[in-house]
Amino acid sequence: MQGSANLNLMIKAARKAGRSLVKDFREVENLQVSSKGPGDFVSKADREAEAIIKEDLRAARPSYGWVGEETGEEEGEDPTRRWIVDPLDGTTNFLHGLPHWAISIALEHKGEVIAGVVFDAAKDEMYYAEKGLGAFMNETRLRVSGRHKMIESIFATGVPFGGKATLPATLQDLARLMPQCAGVRRWGAAALDLAYVASGRYEGYWERGLNSWDIAAGLILVKEAGGFVSSLREGRTIFESGSVVAANNAMFDPLKKVLTEKA
Ligand code: IPD
Ligand code: CA
Ligand code: CA
Ligand code: CA
Repeated sequence: MQGSANLNLMIKAARKAGRSLVKDFREVENLQVSSKGPGDFVSKADREAEAIIKEDLRAARPSYGWVGEETGEEEGEDPTRRWIVDPLDGTTNFLHGLPHWAISIALEHKGEVIAGVVFDAAKDEMYYAEKGLGAFMNETRLRVSGRHKMIESIFATGVPFGGKATLPATLQDLARLMPQCAGVRRWGAAALDLAYVASGRYEGYWERGLNSWDIAAGLILVKEAGGFVSSLREGRTIFESGSVVAANNAMFDPLKKVLTEKA
C-alpha cells in the first residue's frame, strides 16, 4: 500500500521506538519500574519510547495535538488533528519477559481515527491501516476471519487487574460466553488483541475499562480489515465508555448480544 506522508511518519516513529524497547526487553533490573496503582506499572522503557515518538511526531507536525499514556494531553494549534499514542501496550508482559507487547500510534481528525499503526517489535510485525485504504501486516493485506459459528470461534478479552471496577462485569461476560464458544484468550495487550481480530487470528475481542491510547490504532485496523467495532454502552462512544467489542461480520451481533444482555 502506498501510504500517506503521515502514515509513513507513524511507521518510522514506531520502528525507532521499537528499537529502543527491544534493547530494553529482558533488562528489567535496569528499568526503574514504578507503580501507578495496583497492578499498573511503568518503567524507563515506557517513558523513553514515548519520548522518541513524541519528539519525531511533534517535530514533523508541530500544529497537531497530542495524547500519550505517559505524558498526557497537549492541545495543538490545529484543534482538528491529534496523535493518540501508547508507547508500550502490554507493559506487564514486557516486564515479565513475555514477548507480547506493542507500540500503538493513531492519528485522529475531527474525532475520527484516520490512520493507525500497531508495531509488535519483538516479532517484527508492523500492522497499519488508513481510512479507505485497507489494513496490512508488513506487506500482507489483512482480512477478518470468515468463521461464522460461535462454537467454533475464539475470542479475546482483558481481565482487569488490581481490583478495577470493571472486574465483576468481565467475570460475568466470561461466565456467559465461555460455554458457547471454542475458547477465550487473555494475552495482555489490547492493541494486539485488535490487530489479531483484523488478521483473522481470532473472531472477536471485547474489553471494559480501557483508555483511548490502548485501542485507537487497533480500531481502524479492524474496520479496514472488514470487521465491526462498537462501544458496549448504549449512547456512549468507545472512547467515552472505555469499553469495546470488535469482531468479524458473522460474530459481531451474537457476541455483542451475549455481552450486553441483562442478567
Ligand atoms: C494495558 C493492556 C492490557 C489491558 C489493560 C491496559 P498497558 O495497557 O492493553 O491488555 O487489559 O487494560 O491498561 O498499561 O500495558 O499499556
Ligand atoms: Ca500502563
Ligand atoms: Ca495500553
Ligand atoms: Ca502503555
